[in-house]
Amino acid sequence: MRVDGRPFRTIWSPEPGCVDIIDQTRLPHRFETRRLVTLQDAATAIADMQVRGAPLIGVTAAYGVALGLKRDASDATLHEICATLRATRPTAVNLQWALDRVKSHLTSLPPPRRLSAAWDLAALMADEDAAICEAIGDHGVSLIAEIARSKPGAPVNLLTHCNAGWLATVDWGTATAPIYKAHEAGIPVHVFVDETRPRNQGAALTAWELGHHGVPHTIVVDNAGGHLMQHGMVDLVIVGTDRTTADGDVCNKIGTYLKALAAHDNNVPFYVAAPSSSIDFRIRNGLGEIEIEKRGAHEVTHMTGETSDGGIETVRITPASSPVMNFAFDVTPARFVSGLVTERGIVVADAEALAAAFPERL
Ligand code: MRU
Repeated sequence: MRVDGRPFRTIWSPEPGCVDIIDQTRLPHRFETRRLVTLQDAATAIADMQVRGAPLIGVTAAYGVALGLKRDASDATLHEICATLRATRPTAVNLQWALDRVKSHLTSLPPPRRLSAAWDLAALMADEDAAICEAIGDHGVSLIAEIARSKPGAPVNLLTHCNAGWLATVDWGTATAPIYKAHEAGIPVHVFVDETRPRNQGAALTAWELGHHGVPHTIVVDNAGGHLMQHGMVDLVIVGTDRTTADGDVCNKIGTYLKALAAHDNNVPFYVAAPSSSIDFRIRNGLGEIEIEKRGAHEVTHMTGETSDGGIETVRITPASSPVMNFAFDVTPARFVSGLVTERGIVVADAEALAAAFPERL
């Protein structure tokens, strides 16, 4: 996608042996790239959320293995590298999926061939992720086009939560891909962007990228979605996923479940853009079987913003002595999901449909 007219991906290798990322902790105030040179750089980038979003976490981990193997490509080191990266964030299954894929490919090769194979595979996975997201866009745009036909001339109003945009993937995004495709096709769209406390991925990242692409949007506080839906202001909700189970339960950014409940109560279609790398066919029950990441209190007690003189400042917004709980994700049961927009088409959120769409994953 483009930033000030220049095409960018979220991650790329500018020269052998290193990887560049867009540092998402600096947006929307600063657009800065950061160079990752060591395994620890990659692990820190994921844990501190310089890169975030399930698909991008997976691809960063793949590059992280290549960075780690520069030191030594033995079985023991490969194992250690994967364990380090696996421990960075627990919920998005793309991390495990990517590491399993990379590890199984590399262990089939003799150590001297592993380093260059790791770089090749990471680059391939980045390209594949971009292609998968674009395919999600090509399938999902039909949902928007159908609504547009029912209200000629008026914009289709979408609501999205967190950032499942191109910043969360290598390119295109998942939830945003159908929106970008619709916008490109001249279908009028308008996006309500949930701010997504505590880290504000909606207000900071989704709004930033939609703005750079000229997509009309409005930031709303997290609690506004129900009201908007009750008043017929949302035609379609589309969100991303960090892990979708074989039965179609969807784990995504905290607050997604409440949007699904409001959508259900107001007959608003609620779709989840789900690349197959985010589907965990090993588990069925999203409520019992997914580890929900708990993050630090600082994300809740403090907020960072730009001052009027252009500086960046972090301030406390809570009483210093109040305890805090900070769950990063929740689970929306499959019964509230109108459909999963995958790279292979729009699939009912149930075991049968998912198995039929991805038989090789069973
Ligand atoms: O904590 P984050 O910012 O990594 O959470 C991101 C989300 O919840 C996204 O919706 C999800 O990863 C899908 S990204 C295409």
